[in-house]
Amino acid sequence: MTIDLGVLISGRGSNLGAILDAVAAGSLDARVRVVISNKAGAGGLEIARAAGVPTVVIPHGAHPDRASFDAALVAALREAGATCVVLAGFMRLVTPVLLDAFPYRVVNIHPSLLPAFPGVDAQAQALAYGARITGCTVHLVDAGTDTGPVLAQAAVPVLEGDDRDALAARILAREHELLVLALGWLAQGLVEIEAGAAGKRPIVRVRGAATALGIEAPR
Ligand code: GRF
Repeated sequence: MTIDLGVLISGRGSNLGAILDAVAAGSLDARVRVVISNKAGAGGLEIARAAGVPTVVIPHGAHPDRASFDAALVAALREAGATCVVLAGFMRLVTPVLLDAFPYRVVNIHPSLLPAFPGVDAQAQALAYGARITGCTVHLVDAGTDTGPVLAQAAVPVLEGDDRDALAARILAREHELLVLALGWLAQGLVEIEAGAAGKRPIVRVRGAATALGIEAPR
């Protein structure tokens, strides 16, 4: 089943580019209905335009609070026909206004193996900590910061002599694969979510797929 995506960005948009490339190549059964940026100068807007995808700029500063900003996002996403929202380098915390409009259908890509190194500049956090292995995580978004149920992860080594940019580039290559993979599972209806018992996390099952990149799917 084709999935209708709304992609939220704030910057460069390389993950958006990976999604659009996969759609164009026929390896991801999705339509990108709209790309929304909170920043008018985001490079990803050009990537969207070049692919013929409608773009909307909604500056967060034009809204008095997060909830009203999110309400504007929801209106634009609904108008475009999006049923699944991808946070692809979207540097704003989202509120229940967005999450409740797309239950279990807001997806984030984060450049660490969560729950390690949530929040900003996870790559620098991993280096500063002295981690030997880090990676990236695709997860469903909940009300916390990078705390939602995990869909997929990929491990990436930290190499001797890495600086922040070298490590970020190695992780980014994996992000592009992992995000497309996880969106494909959603498009194929392979993701089952069971609400957690009181105080517990929801349980995510992905039918027939390995949820860590580089590990073979069970047969
Ligand atoms: C990526 O590292 C992503 O994991 C993080 O922000 C960065 C966005 O990069 N959330 P891009 O805009 O997709 O190139």
